[in-house]
Amino acid sequence: MNKLRVGVIGLGYFGERHAKVYRRLPYVDLVAVCDRDAARAGRLAADLGAEATADFHALLARPDIDAVSICLPDREHTEAAVAAAEAKKAILLEKPLAHDAAHARIIVDAVEKNGVRFMVGHILRFDPRYVQVHEASRPEKLGVPIHLKAKRNGIRSVAARVGKNASILFYMGVHDVDALQWVARSRIARVYAQKIERLGNGNEDALYAVLNFENGAIGCLDYSWAWPDGLMNGYKAALEIVGTKSAAFLDCSDQGFYAVHDDRVTGGDTHLWPEINGRIVGDLGDEITHFADAVLTGAPFVQDYREAFDAIPVLDALAESARIGLPVDVKR
Ligand SMILES: NC(=O)c1ccc[n+]([C@@H]2O[C@H](COP(=O)([O-])OP(=O)(O)OC[C@H]3O[C@@H](n4cnc5c(N)ncnc54)[C@H](O)[C@@H]3O)[C@@H](O)[C@H]2O)c1
Repeated sequence: MNKLRVGVIGLGYFGERHAKVYRRLPYVDLVAVCDRDAARAGRLAADLGAEATADFHALLARPDIDAVSICLPDREHTEAAVAAAEAKKAILLEKPLAHDAAHARIIVDAVEKNGVRFMVGHILRFDPRYVQVHEASRPEKLGVPIHLKAKRNGIRSVAARVGKNASILFYMGVHDVDALQWVARSRIARVYAQKIERLGNGNEDALYAVLNFENGAIGCLDYSWAWPDGLMNGYKAALEIVGTKSAAFLDCSDQGFYAVHDDRVTGGDTHLWPEINGRIVGDLGDEITHFADAVLTGAPFVQDYREAFDAIPVLDALAESARIGLPVDVKR
């Protein structure tokens, strides 16, 4: 069996994890890693037995790389994704596809023009809890959707770290907009959002919104990254859908693990990307393994990139609604 030869671009919080997952897959060669911080790239390359570069164009020019993960900040996806498509690499692009619909369109056009495999890292498509809510909300089980609700609340140190380079909608909110449209089997048509900024992190502290779906269902979104860092597990997330025949919901607040100290109780990630027995597993492990498997075998990805694209105009509409204080139709 031929090995998949991979490069990883952007080696911050997430790119390092992508590289470590590839490194343990027996049918993948992690050939090179790239970060504009050359020292960081050099360190990770030495740890993982890959080559290092600070220039993603140099990595993409290598004929011995078949596929890349792009893990750059949200606002820097476009140039790298277009260059990767032009270099004919299979692409795993971290979510969000882009930081607005115009840039998402540029990326999708480049992918389609160059005919490359393209997957967006919508990690919840690999989370057993979300997949089971999707399964339970099949029309023959759920009937017609009546109302839906999604929540994603995170800690303020993440908002401070990503600062002006990210917004709550694109960094976190894209997960839930994608999940809502996926389980509702319907796109969001209209939004009415409000936001608040008090902590001075360069982005929103919280955003709440009311949603109208094309199929007539109503929904709401509850986003925050204002929680103190002591929040158990660093985040709270939930999803619910109620239909004419049944309902389904999930709650990620409880990860099922507790460490008890004299003065407090702490938790830990047991689902997203926990490191267990020296390997990063969980949803991220499954996502990256799926990408590599599907590129090697030619199998379809579990999510078509056009569904990932469908989330972006909703985020634009939410941002616009929060800005002007009025309901906004999603422009498709
Ligand atoms: N699926 C998830 O749950 C999840 C979680 C975290 C992050 N992400 C996504 O992953 C992406 C990266 O996020 P992060 O938290 O790792 O960010 P980060 O800021 O920690 O890392 C980004 C890295 O990219 C490097 N970089 C920036 N511009 C570059 C360029 N032009 N060339 C080479 N290197 C460059 C930076 O030096 C930095 O090391 C974002 O799109 C984010 O939304 C997804």
